[in-house]
Formats: sequence, structure tokens, C-alpha cells
Amino acid sequence: MADTNWVKFEIPSDTRNVAFARTAVALFASQLDWTLDELEDIKVAVSEAVSNSVIHGYQLGEGIVRLEASYQDHKLTIVVEDYGQGIADIEQAQETGYTTIPEERMGLGFTFMHEYMDEVLVFSQVQKGTKVTMIKEVPRRPEG
Ligand SMILES: Nc1ncnc2c1ncn2[C@@H]1O[C@H](COP(=O)(O)OP(=O)(O)OP(=O)(O)O)[C@@H](O)[C@H]1O
Ligand SMILES: [Mg+2]
Repeated sequence: MADTNWVKFEIPSDTRNVAFARTAVALFASQLDWTLDELEDIKVAVSEAVSNSVIHGYQLGEGIVRLEASYQDHKLTIVVEDYGQGIADIEQAQETGYTTIPEERMGLGFTFMHEYMDEVLVFSQVQKGTKVTMIKEVPRRPEG
């Protein structure tokens, strides 16, 4: 039988809730046997995705960020979704150093997500919102 579990929750778009989302997802993810470094990587990826929804999706205004985390056997899937302004050019947005707020931001969020997760899938529609799906599998460890 497959070992499977999931959680779903929503938070109001607020920078204070980024830490909650990061910690909550990490606590859920810790049901799988990651190293501490891998768990840290997952936290960073969640932070970056949720921050993007708050900062860019809702431009620090009101909105709801929806999160889902689930796993099946050793594969973790995290979904971060907003109903904000959306991304016009999804490829360009994921280029390292690309940002629409160059005075303040580094344009590294998507780069970290790609670095720390196995797969990052971005679906977005202008004025409708953005959905980022991130997948990471527990690496096989040498036994002993
Ligand atoms: N949820 C989102 N809604 C709307 N636009 C987004 C969203 N996420 C990312 N973007 C767009 O993609 C760009 C790149 O995102 P990325 O996270 O890589 O960099 P950044 O947020 O600008 O800077 P950093 O993450 O280093 O603070 C953003 O500048 C923004 O224009
Ligand atoms: Mg970002």
C-alpha cells in the first residue's frame, strides 16, 4: 500500500504569514526522512513561493494564498497558489536575476526553487493568478 498523506491550508496574504507557511510545510514534510539540509532547502523554496504571492501576486495588498503539501511514498509535492495579478511571461520570470522590482529585489526566488526542488512547474494567467507546483523526492541513501 502506498504511504500517503496531505495537508491544505489558506493564509491571508501578509508577510507575517510567510514564516508560518514555511514552518507548517516543513513540519508536514518532516514525516519523510530528509536530512536537515534538505528540510532547510524545502523551507527556502516554500518561503520564496509564498513571498512571491504576497509581494508580486497581491503587491502587498489583500488576497488569499492557498497551500497544499502532500506525499506519496518518497515524493513530496507542494503547491502554492494565489489569485493575484499573474505573470505575463513565465519563462522570463524564472530567469536568474529577472525581477520586476529591480530597486528592491534580486530576482533569485525562482532560481532557489529550481535549485532546491527536483521540479518546479509554474502556471499563471494575467489578472487571474499563479500556481507554483514543486516536487522533491527523498534521495536514496546508501545503507548502513
Ligand atoms: N506569484 C506571483 N505573481 C505575480 N508575479 C510573480 C509571482 N511570482 C513571481 N512573479 C514575477 O516573477 C519575477 C521573478 O520572481 P523571483 O522570485 O525569481 O524574483 P523576485 O521576487 O523579483 O526577487 P527575489 O525573489 O530575489 O526577492 C518577479 O519579479 C515577479 O515579476
Ligand atoms: Mg521572489
